[in-house]
Amino acid sequence: MQKQLRKIVILGSTGSIGRSTLEVLDDHPGRFDVVGLAAKSDVERMLAQIERYRPNYVYMGDQSAADFLSGEALVKNIDVLTGDEGMITMASLPEVELVVNALVGSVGLLASLTTVENGKYLALANKESLVVGGPLFEEAVARTGARVLPIDSEHSAIWQCMASGRDSEIRRLILTASGGPFRTKKKDEFKSVTKEEALDHPTWKMGPKVTIDSATLMNKGLELIEAVWLFSIPPEMVSIVVHPQSVVHSMVEYVDSSVVAQMSAPDMKLPIAYALFWPERVRGNYGRLDLTEMQSLTFTKPDAEKFPAINLAYNAATLGGTAPAALNAANEVAVESFLLGRIGFMDITDIIEKTLGKHTVVEKPSLLDILDADRWGRKTAEGFVH
Ligand SMILES: NC(=O)c1ccc[n+]([C@@H]2O[C@H](COP(=O)([O-])OP(=O)(O)OC[C@H]3O[C@@H](n4cnc5c(N)ncnc54)[C@H](OP(=O)(O)O)[C@@H]3O)[C@@H](O)[C@H]2O)c1
Repeated sequence: MQKQLRKIVILGSTGSIGRSTLEVLDDHPGRFDVVGLAAKSDVERMLAQIERYRPNYVYMGDQSAADFLSGEALVKNIDVLTGDEGMITMASLPEVELVVNALVGSVGLLASLTTVENGKYLALANKESLVVGGPLFEEAVARTGARVLPIDSEHSAIWQCMASGRDSEIRRLILTASGGPFRTKKKDEFKSVTKEEALDHPTWKMGPKVTIDSATLMNKGLELIEAVWLFSIPPEMVSIVVHPQSVVHSMVEYVDSSVVAQMSAPDMKLPIAYALFWPERVRGNYGRLDLTEMQSLTFTKPDAEKFPAINLAYNAATLGGTAPAALNAANEVAVESFLLGRIGFMDITDIIEKTLGKHTVVEKPSLLDILDADRWGRKTAEGFVH
């Protein structure tokens, strides 16, 4: 008897994680049926994906891109969607079991929340949605029985390490950070950092926003907040260590002082495959390690003075409520402004700090409070961009 294919939607299919997800599916034919694909404006790549995967639904964030696609002969029998309504449709298709959210930025919040509200599996790369809407997910997951499956390599590592003990036996989670391209740079050299230097990550090839987040270490800050919500753990139980080789993807320390680590060579296809096929481990060589080839594995404390993003994220996580939404909004504005050449590298965390300093936290926020904090954070941060 033929096994039924699991129906999947991939949001952000033209991006770095989205493309890796499709490669994982290609490596395991006969397991998934791609029902929907979503992107913003990359019509060329989307057309190639439509030709290859023949989805029933396609979403484009840009209206003009959606209009362009609708006119293409290849797209004749496909529903082309756009806008918030379109995103809600993509994330709530009744026939779909698993939604991969590989969008970038807080635009992913609506998709993540809709997926969870509909009781589906959410394979989550879009950490921003959990950072911004954490309190809403906790409640929705408990009510609907949805399941959030982390794709971020650090959270996948923790999830895998958590199979070694009970949740109540965890002493702390240890997130590893590569340290980014400026780990060894002196702080006074940060002033002259160019966009090209910041985009040149030593171990991971990623989209531009997450690459800049890795250079400021805000990526680790966002991951800290993501871990707090994913694993229902207070921020003070999450430590960060710098591990430039990116081989140990994160660890869990248990109450008996045992530290369990997950290792592989850096390859996002491994955590993607783990999330897609969970609870099964599928055969594969993604990130296969030869330990005898390793020179050394090193671990050091992050330099909080040089990289203020980490303490800013700890503060926002401890404040809770709408504080992480304001932090994330300020970060998105600051990173975009840096990529556009409007501000310098050091201004990124400066703008976030100033924005957070002005924020009035709503402790138990509704969705509206969170959307308000996101809007407020963007507007306030814009005011600091000169
Ligand atoms: N890359 C990594 O290795 C990595 C590792 C861990 C976690 N993550 C996280 O995964 C997420 C995606 O990262 P990435 O590096 O894959 O980003 P990316 O390469 O920039 O891709 C982003 C994707 O989102 C789409 N998109 C952006 N805005 C949209 C909108 N308004 N509506 C619909 N689609 C939209 C883009 O479409 P267009 O192509 O049309 O613009 C693209 O498909 C981020 O949250 C990141 O922090 C990434």
